[in-house]
Order: sequence, then C-alpha cells, then structure tokens
Amino acid sequence: MPTESPAQVRGNATLSFDGRSVDLPLLTGTENESAINIEKLRAQTGLITLDRGYANTGSCKSGITFIDGELGILRYRGYPIEELAASSTFLEVAWLLLYGELPKPAELESFKAEITRHTLLHENFKRFFEAMPKDAHPMPVSAAAVVSLATFYQLPENEDNLHNAVIRLIAKMPTIAAYAYKHSVGLPFMYPKNTLDYTSNFLHMMFANPTEDYPVDPVVSRALDLLLILHADHEQNCSTSTVRMVGSSRANLFASVSAGISALWGPLHGGANQEVIEMLERIEQQEGSAEKFVTRAKDKNDTTRLMGFGHRVYKSYDPRATILKKACRDVLDQVGVSSRLLEIGMKLEEIALRDEYFVSRKLYPNVDFYSGIIYKALGIPVNMFTVMFTIGRMPGWIAQWLEMRRDPEFKISRPRQIYTGPAKRSYVPIAQRG
Ligand code: CMC
Repeated sequence: MPTESPAQVRGNATLSFDGRSVDLPLLTGTENESAINIEKLRAQTGLITLDRGYANTGSCKSGITFIDGELGILRYRGYPIEELAASSTFLEVAWLLLYGELPKPAELESFKAEITRHTLLHENFKRFFEAMPKDAHPMPVSAAAVVSLATFYQLPENEDNLHNAVIRLIAKMPTIAAYAYKHSVGLPFMYPKNTLDYTSNFLHMMFANPTEDYPVDPVVSRALDLLLILHADHEQNCSTSTVRMVGSSRANLFASVSAGISALWGPLHGGANQEVIEMLERIEQQEGSAEKFVTRAKDKNDTTRLMGFGHRVYKSYDPRATILKKACRDVLDQVGVSSRLLEIGMKLEEIALRDEYFVSRKLYPNVDFYSGIIYKALGIPVNMFTVMFTIGRMPGWIAQWLEMRRDPEFKISRPRQIYTGPAKRSYVPIAQRG
C-alpha cells in the first residue's frame, strides 16, 4: 500500500447554540477538501446532525478515489481517469484499486493467472440458475448468486481466505453474469476459456454456444474493457456505501457485495443506463421530438426525468461521460453500426445544455448517458447493462470494503434519527377502539 497522508487538523469551527459554544476540529484531506469533524458532537452537546441523503456527510476517510465534482475530476489512487482509460486495462486498474499501486509486470501476470484459474462456478451452481424464472432480471439473479458464494466458501476470515474471496469475486462475476443471461434466453451455459483475457472471456461466455464458436472482436473487447475501467470505483456512492454499511456489521465480503449489487440496481443509480436506452427508444418511437421530452422532464407535475443527466457530486460534465461520448462515435464507426439513438442522445444533450432549467441546476450528462449506446452497439442486451456496471464496480466495492475492515478507527455504521412519530400514549384494548 502507498503511504497515505493522514487528514490534517487545521484549527476549529465554533458551533454556538442555546447560549453555549463548542469547538469542532476542522480536517483537510490531500486535495484540500475540508470537513468539520463532528465525531464528539453528541457526547459534548447532546445534538446530532440531520443530513437527508448524506449530501454533506463524510462517512469515512479513504485513500482510494478522489472526485472534484465542481472541476469534473476523477482519479483512482491519484491517477487521472483519462490516463487510465487511454493506457490501462481493467485488471490492471483492479489491482491498482485493491493494492494502491500500479502492478509490476510480474505482479500483473500472476494476478491475471489467478483470476483466470477461478472463473469456473461450482457445478451445483447450474441448478441455482435453473431455479430462477425464465424472465428473471439478471440483476437480482446476480445479487442472489453472489451472496450464494458465501455458502460455497464458508471459511473463517483471515488474510489468506480474504485474498481468495477477492480473486473469486472478480473472477466469477463475469461467469455469473453470462449464466444469468444464458438462462434468461434458454441457451446452454458456456464454460469460461482460459486462453482468453478477462473481457474476451466474458464475451465468449455470453455469445458463443456449443454448436458455434464466437470469434471475439478485439474492438468489442477493448470497448468493453474501457467501460469496465470507467466504472471501477466512484468513492462513497449509494452502492459502495451499502457495501461498507453491510460490511461494518462484520458480514462477510460476498454478503456485503451482494447488497451493493441490489443498491446498484435502482434507476437513480446504476439502473439508469438501462433507463437511458429505454428513454431514447421511447423518444424515437413515440415522443416525436427530443424537445418535447425535455419539456416533460422539467415539468414538476410530471415524474419524467432526463435519465443519465444530473449527479449528486458532479456539478459539471462527468469526466467519464466525456470519455464515453468520444468512444461512442469511435465504437459505432469501428463496429460499423449507425445509431439513431446516438443522434437522439446528442440532440437531447444539446437542448438540455442550452436550457436554463438544466444550466441553473448544473445538470450535465453522467456516465450512464452514453454507456448504454455503446453496450447496445456491442450487442449487449438491454437488461444486462446494469450487470455490466456490476462487473466493472466489483474491484471498487472490494477495495472499499477492505479499507473499511482494516481501518484502525473502524466502527459499525449506525446513523441516528429525529423521531417525528406520536408522543407516548397508552395501549387501547381492541374492544374499546370504535
Ligand atoms: N432530469 C430533470 N430534473 C432533474 C434531473 C434530471 N435527470 N436530475 C435532477 N433534477 C432536478 C431535480 O428535480 C431538482 O430540481 P428542484 O431543485 O427544482 O427540485 C434538482 O435538479 C436537484 O436534483 P436532486 O434530485 O435533488 O439531486 P440529487 O443530487 O439528489 O440526485 C440524481 C442526483 C443522480 C439522483 C439525479 O440527478 C437523477 O435522478 N438523475 C437521473 C438518474 C441518473 O441518471 N442516475 C445516474 C447517476 S450517475 C451513475 C451512478 O453513479 O449511479
């Protein structure tokens, strides 16, 4: 692990209330982001803080990912996402997130070899998929499959077993994803192939079948690898916070990550990529014009939102969307697909970025706005889009879980509340209730 600079205390903030005042330490991180440390607030004052959606609350100190939402900056372990997207591979990025440094050649080779050796699922696992309804969405199937891994590997948590659990999760996630898909379309499962790299192997398990080979197109494989890199971590988002929250009870890694998959499924989080493509298709088929859709998205009496737009942290263009917008054009050209949906997406973006509603709220395209168009061009079925996000986010969830569990200041996550229910009252026997 690289040496991390601890957050520096740089004075106090003074809180005054009810004629009293308390000093609370001010903390600064590596990139000068600041926080008021309220860890002693309740003990000193009896007060708690209320922060719905945790928009102002830091839940941990972390050395993994840095985001500056105002400037549109994203870095993994200090490395800009643009450089990693241009030059790295998903497994190299996974190593970086897990171990803190870019791997040396021999480290990367042995990591790849270990991952490749663990891609097979236990044979009994096939019956797990067969027990699911035919039309089961692959996200809950993946979440259930990942938590089921805990039943196959019921080992005490020590460093060796943890290492194996990390390798197994990264290695088996593409197999789980592909099996969930094959089951949903009634096709035979394809075993992983050790001669293929991580992303090509996934494509093989998705699209080959026992009667026909599927020669993996290197353009498709590289485009998918890029998408996985861009999704690999994003600091304390909803699913990652869920992984940390569940892991904070000392639940095991498989169970914690499965909870993260469930959190990711929601349309406001990873589920947005499926929603974006469905939105673009609706506009193409029914809504008529992009303008009409944007008008609906602005209407407070209409629940429609411009999916793939807006972000809790980014108040400028999401840097991942910048990379993907360019990649979209390149991939469509390279695989020889023309996309009416890309044209609609670009038109929507153009209208929104000129509109006072979106400008004043600082709503810009996020990673999900363009990712779906690429997945579609690569032949990935729409209900698998969020599962692709799951494969990409796996090393990030694991790195965050490990950091939490190894933190000497570790505590179970247990927020408080302001109670707004009825004040104390007495039980009324049922016969007396009119
Ligand atoms: N379309 C229309 N209006 C929007 C949108 C949108 N996509 N996003 C935010 N707004 C409006 C919202 O109505 C509110 O307006 P007002 O101030 O008048 O009440 C204002 O902008 C602030 O929105 P918010 O919902 O309070 O912001 P938030 O930080 O709680 O939510 C968000 C962030 C991502 C959930 C939200 O922008 C959204 O629902 N976006 C669409 C779903 C989406 O694309 N999600 C993927 C996020 S990126 C991938 C990931 O990491 O999960």
